[in-house]
Amino acid sequence: MKLLLGQVLHFTSDPFVDGPSAARLDEAVLIEAGKIRAIGPSARLRADHPQAEIIDHGQALISAGFVDAHVHYPQTAIIASWGKRLIDWLNSYTFPEEMRFSNIAYAQDVADRYMDLTLSNGTTSFSSYCTIHPESVDALFTAAARTNSRIWAGKTCMDRNAPEGLRDTPQSAYDDSARLLTKWHGVGRGSYVITPRFSPTSTKDQLAALGSLWAQNPDCLMQTHLSEQVDEIEWVQSLFPTARDYLDTYERHGLLGKGGLFGHAIWLTDREKDRLREVDASLIHCPTSNTFIGSGLFAMASLKSAGHRIGLATDTGGGSSFSMLRTMAAAYEVAQLSHTALHPAALWWLATVGSARALRADHLIGNIAPGHEADLVVIDLASTPAIEQASRRATDIWQAVFPTIMMGDDRAIRQVWVAGKPVRG
Ligand code: GUN
Ligand code: ZN
Repeated sequence: MKLLLGQVLHFTSDPFVDGPSAARLDEAVLIEAGKIRAIGPSARLRADHPQAEIIDHGQALISAGFVDAHVHYPQTAIIASWGKRLIDWLNSYTFPEEMRFSNIAYAQDVADRYMDLTLSNGTTSFSSYCTIHPESVDALFTAAARTNSRIWAGKTCMDRNAPEGLRDTPQSAYDDSARLLTKWHGVGRGSYVITPRFSPTSTKDQLAALGSLWAQNPDCLMQTHLSEQVDEIEWVQSLFPTARDYLDTYERHGLLGKGGLFGHAIWLTDREKDRLREVDASLIHCPTSNTFIGSGLFAMASLKSAGHRIGLATDTGGGSSFSMLRTMAAAYEVAQLSHTALHPAALWWLATVGSARALRADHLIGNIAPGHEADLVVIDLASTPAIEQASRRATDIWQAVFPTIMMGDDRAIRQVWVAGKPVRG
């Protein structure tokens, strides 16, 4: 039993709805058997649990670990590749790199590296695309099991518009995905996600095959990309001339539903927004990617007020950082360009509870509450001289936190806990 002392940040509701009072600060969190057992005043928890080992983090912030709702771990090594937009970025950088994952040793090496990088940034859960190679899925689930991390991942399916060596077929995509689902879904803290890359790289038959796999396994999530760039949408229109819109290419093949995770979702039509809202699918905002690849501005304020379920993500390696702090900063900047200043409480909520809700796991992770899994990050709010001098003049917690959101990186991550065990720091 461990008692962590610090500024324990947790949410009792959604700050987009209730404002900053949706966030609360407590003094201590008690961890036992991988779970959060209690939060509250330090004196009371110490008195009630005299046998607990005390770990005093002083004024550091103790939060739920970050949840990154959309990543491509195979793109770890091509992060920050210069000068391309989506389709030529995929062809120039992504596909050649993903080809290398036919080599299991290479896949294992990158999976381990990705786990190190993401944990050292305080991210304790994520949902990742793998490559078309089943071994790339095995490599990631195996790497995550070493730290007992709660992750989601799936084989990326593509049967057209990708190079030879990076294409499967409708049948092999179905068979491989079904086999990997049986092998990994619900094993430890792993969950399998059915993963068609996006409509341009799947035939109708492949989309339909994955739609039927999802219908047979409705407790699985399904992840894909939607309306990231204007050229991409035009390409989808030419490939699916009878579809009403981009979303319809998924919908007509059984790939629209409440466990659907739609990455980017920038250039949505009103019909698409309405359908996504009706089925309560999740939209995943990837702000560093959207600026880096030049995709556009996600309409956070209007989508959130319309009631959409929204998560936040790095989109490694289209995104330019492994850090959810950096990702919150980019979400702030993207919203500013649409004349909205997102409150730091809303940004923090998106990176924790919001992403956990998007993954339909907010009863397990993403918040500090009794019964939740003990995935925690301890954050130094004065991790660099620039941040220290800015936060020193703060008169409330959010003024103290905001410089770390805007300027923080892995140096701010003092300790990381996964399933009740320290894995960093
Ligand atoms: N659309 C289809 N595949 C990808 C990908 O790997 N990254 C991004 N950002 N968009 C995509
Ligand atoms: Zn992506």
